[in-house]
Amino acid sequence: MSHIIAASTSIDLTKRLRLASEDRLTVIRPDQVPATPGQLLAMFDEDVEVTTLVLDVTDGQVDRDRALEFSRRLDSQANPLAVLLVSDQPDTLALTAMRARVQDIVPVGIGIEDLRVTLRAAEEVAGRRSGRSAVADDSAFGRVITVASPKGGVGKTTVATNIAASLAEKSPQGTVIVDLDVQFGDVAAALDLEPTYTLGDVATTAVPDLIGLKALLTQHPSGLQVVAGVRSPAEADRIDPRLVGELLQVLRREFRYVVVDSAPGMSEETLTALDHTTDLVLVTTLDVPGIRGLRKELDLLEELGLPPHTRHIVINMFDRTGGISVTDAEATLKHNADIVLPRSPRVARSTNQGTPLVSLHPRDKVSQDLQSLVSRFAPLASRRGRRGTSRIWSKP
Ligand SMILES: Nc1ncnc2c1ncn2[C@@H]1O[C@H](COP(=O)(O)OP(=O)(O)OP(=O)(O)O)[C@@H](O)[C@H]1O
Ligand SMILES: [Mg+2]
Repeated sequence: MSHIIAASTSIDLTKRLRLASEDRLTVIRPDQVPATPGQLLAMFDEDVEVTTLVLDVTDGQVDRDRALEFSRRLDSQANPLAVLLVSDQPDTLALTAMRARVQDIVPVGIGIEDLRVTLRAAEEVAGRRSGRSAVADDSAFGRVITVASPKGGVGKTTVATNIAASLAEKSPQGTVIVDLDVQFGDVAAALDLEPTYTLGDVATTAVPDLIGLKALLTQHPSGLQVVAGVRSPAEADRIDPRLVGELLQVLRREFRYVVVDSAPGMSEETLTALDHTTDLVLVTTLDVPGIRGLRKELDLLEELGLPPHTRHIVINMFDRTGGISVTDAEATLKHNADIVLPRSPRVARSTNQGTPLVSLHPRDKVSQDLQSLVSRFAPLASRRGRRGTSRIWSKP
């Protein structure tokens, strides 16, 4: 059975951890935390499957820099541990912690239910890294295709809804799209839907089980199921980002394809989605800020050491007047573009009409290119080692 280690002298915290972990907890003193994960694991019998280390970095507990250094030394192959930090300043620590491969930062006053969700998510990640948990067997679960970009307005929602519509043609009952642009998501508008329930109803206190969840989905006439974005930015505050991972996990048990649309940049929800993603579709336009932003995002993805996923780069709204060639962009990105979509009035019109282009004009060259991208999302069993496929290029 998996085991959790906590370094803290706080009786209150360790009591909550014990309850949340159902007694699968060993508490050590802050000064007992060794320098490396390997040394920590050596402190326990081989048959104790340590999955999670909780380091209390509040004042007088584990030294913050030491905790970060420990986490930085994690080697997902040799010691697939998830490290959680308990902090009274989670916001100021977020970026450094992410870079040091910390799985999550827990506010010091966290309640038992939230702690339980966080521990479960951490164990799942550790299990996936080690290949131990059932989650490691991706083939039993649906693909999670996340569409992201550092910049806004580059066509993420357009690409995500077209991918989802195209997948729904192949698998009408097996495709769901989740709008994780929690503040300004417009997937429902792009599909001309008036949702009764939104993400604000799904990811607030606890993710419902599958049956409850299905009642909260909005069905598109094509069969595509939709977890719509919130109705107002204020409603977004109700969403608990930690539940987003749980939501995706529940959905991928039921659906063959889970398509995720995201907000620009690396929001907490996007980072959580990346932990569950099998295919990452990165969208950019062909301009200097867009390409530079994407380069930085690719670097950040490397630094974060997220579980591997296949990456697909989409250059959108291409026209020849911009002065940057696709080859220039590829040189900056150090990555080939997988698909180049031209700026097309038909795309803009399809958005305004609330019907994805692939449904409205399936023979359009842009639709066909989007469908070729979709065909790359082959069944999971055969997805590994497919890098190096050629670029799909739509001429404007
Ligand atoms: N290839 C294209 N040709 C012409 N217009 C396009 C193309 N791709 C997207 N658009 C239009 O650009 C606008 C922005 O697209 P979209 O909403 O998909 O971007 P986004 O990246 O999701 O934006 P945000 O970051 O605000 O969520 C939409 O009106 C859409 O119709
Ligand atoms: Mg969008």
